[in-house]
Amino acid sequence: MESKISVRNLNLFYKNFHALHNINMDIVANKTTALIGPPGCGKSTFLRALNRLHDLYEGVRVEGEVLLDGANIYNDKCNVMSLRKKVGMVFQKPNPFPMSIYDNVASGPRIHGIKNRKRLDEIVEMSLRAAALWEEVSDRLKYPAMNLTSGQQQRLCIARLLAVEPEVVLMDEPTSTLDPASALEVEELIYMLKRNYTVVIVTRNMRQAARVSDYTAFFLAGNLVEFGSTGQIFTTPADRRTEDYITGRFG
Ligand SMILES: Nc1ncnc2c1ncn2[C@@H]1O[C@H](COP(=O)(O)OP(=O)(O)OP(=O)(O)O)[C@@H](O)[C@H]1O
Ligand SMILES: [Mg+2]
Repeated sequence: MESKISVRNLNLFYKNFHALHNINMDIVANKTTALIGPPGCGKSTFLRALNRLHDLYEGVRVEGEVLLDGANIYNDKCNVMSLRKKVGMVFQKPNPFPMSIYDNVASGPRIHGIKNRKRLDEIVEMSLRAAALWEEVSDRLKYPAMNLTSGQQQRLCIARLLAVEPEVVLMDEPTSTLDPASALEVEELIYMLKRNYTVVIVTRNMRQAARVSDYTAFFLAGNLVEFGSTGQIFTTPADRRTEDYITGRFG
């Protein structure tokens, strides 16, 4: 199995607070890995470490390595702009830009220098199709994105990300603020994405983790307690703490 991202002895500190303890994990290419664990265990912190989002915060110190296709993203030579293009992020609350559906999806390619109208049209259509949104919006691409339902907005944010051709898609509880029907739409999309992308998703919803992911990582207090195939973690966890968590005894 090809590992897309190899995390080696990763430690992360918020000033004096040791938030991630010596994490080692191999994230498999073109599969979905779910990060689970109780509030405050470090899921979001770990996710942000995978595309150096912590660079934007004050007082965060990272030790260890995150190898993307074998190259350490924390190496001084790493170009953070091209890293974030390769490793994109979807957040909890859909955050479309206050502009049209079309311009939302075209914004990334435009930043990366694509100006040709026909090419942009193609990218917008391809990305909206890949995000399972094209059929619903193809006749109103110039409408404000803010008028879409929350599920459509989240799929639009995913389309916006896919438009810059990422290789890895990071998602931090992408359905947690959505109504159940919208959440299901987005979940179905996440399930489809793994054919073409390496997906890492934080979720508090155990059924969602079991449905969408191939691998599951269980975090507790900044430690990676257990990592394995989702089937194994959910049926025969090796660690008692994993079992207690997935059976709902805490968190
Ligand atoms: N910017 C920050 N500065 C200082 N401490 C932080 C910061 N962000 C997170 N922490 C702390 O790091 C620990 C891990 O937080 P993190 O947000 O990664 O947890 P989480 O597993 O995503 O939790 P949740 O399920 O609530 O989203 C927590 O103790 C949190 O208080
Ligand atoms: Mg979080």
